[in-house]
Amino acid sequence: MKKILITGGAGFIGSHLVRLFVKKYPAYHVYNLDKLTYAGNLENLKDIENAPNYTFVKGDIVDTEFVLQLFKQEQFDDVIHLAAESHVDRSIYSPMDFIYTNIIGTANLLNAARSAWEHNYDEHRFYHISTDEVYGSLGETGYFTEKTPYSPHSPYSASKASSDHLVRAYHDTFGMNNVISNCSNNYGPNQFPEKLIPLCINNILHNKPLPVYGTGKNIRDWLYVEDHAKAIDVIFHKGLSGQTYNIGGNNEWTNIDIVKKLIEIMDEELGRPQGTSLSLITYVKDRAGHDLRYAIDASKLKNELGWEPSIKFTEGFRLTVKWYLNNQQWLQNVTSGAYQKYYEQMYTQH
Ligand code: NAD
Ligand code: TYD
Repeated sequence: MKKILITGGAGFIGSHLVRLFVKKYPAYHVYNLDKLTYAGNLENLKDIENAPNYTFVKGDIVDTEFVLQLFKQEQFDDVIHLAAESHVDRSIYSPMDFIYTNIIGTANLLNAARSAWEHNYDEHRFYHISTDEVYGSLGETGYFTEKTPYSPHSPYSASKASSDHLVRAYHDTFGMNNVISNCSNNYGPNQFPEKLIPLCINNILHNKPLPVYGTGKNIRDWLYVEDHAKAIDVIFHKGLSGQTYNIGGNNEWTNIDIVKKLIEIMDEELGRPQGTSLSLITYVKDRAGHDLRYAIDASKLKNELGWEPSIKFTEGFRLTVKWYLNNQQWLQNVTSGAYQKYYEQMYTQH
């Protein structure tokens, strides 16, 4: 049995990936290493928690000794690394958490994998999951390709860029079998409600203001989370060592249009007269260093490995809204306690 370590598997994207691998590959044993920060939630994996090919390990990738010991003990065959601090606004208020987890944590995993696999790199893959935000901001035209120079603007994207550089350097210097993918914004079930879409779903549900930063004209390229997990599956198995692959939805929306679309679907699903929730839209102070536009050219992944998004936005968006409406207990559990404090701090400063 192949032993695959997935880090950050209790988070949004990680939980979808863990489920996909546990169900699709009975011959793999999936180890999910997660610190269970505010963003990690084992409720996301209830349906597979007792699967015979799944093990949860609670731990912090910043803890060097712990990571080294774990690799010695478990002899993993491969790593898919998603664990990260992932929210731009939090990175503005506490950058050090991002520097520790995203940079030091990635370095710890690379070092542990390097010692474990030293004479045998070709047989062991280290796959690092990254973001399109490392490329910086686009103007009104153009796309990020794998050749776009890095130009991160937030502590989050700068920490992810640093980790990408380390992963690439360990391939170039030591010959490790490393692959990186850079994906656009994900949406779907289980996303923590600090990010735009679930935050607005939660607020529409409770008739609370929908905070739109600046003009609302910033653009993001949205991809359904299960499509991202499928792309990771393809790249993990077929991607070439030392390569980067961009993953995107080819699906650009301004923030204000996304919020209006959500209002349309939510009002319908909640049986409110169309347009009722439009009055909740509230323009607030812009995010510092706010990137204008992200848009991915994913043609390399399509042409070389045959991946394309399979879920249309209209379908994925409605599925997402319905999931949150059917899982209000989940929403309530993750938005109580510490989250409320964060929300008040973050949104009363605006
Ligand atoms: P998330 O915040 O929902 O989950 C992150 C997970 O990592 C959580 O389960 C958390 O407990 C865990 N974690 C955090 N610090 C840790 C530590 N020190 N040790 C062990 N575990 C730790 O994030 P997400 O949105 O699922 O993103 C996953 C990955 O994908 C990240 O690397 C992110 O940069 C990348 N990514 C995200 C998006 C997006 O739109 N969400 C897009 C592109 C790339
Ligand atoms: P977010 O979901 O935080 O993802 P990212 O910053 O990684 O792209 O934000 C998506 C967009 O929505 C981004 O342009 C910032 C904006 N935004 C708001 O306008 N209001 C909000 O309350 C949040 C969280 C984000």
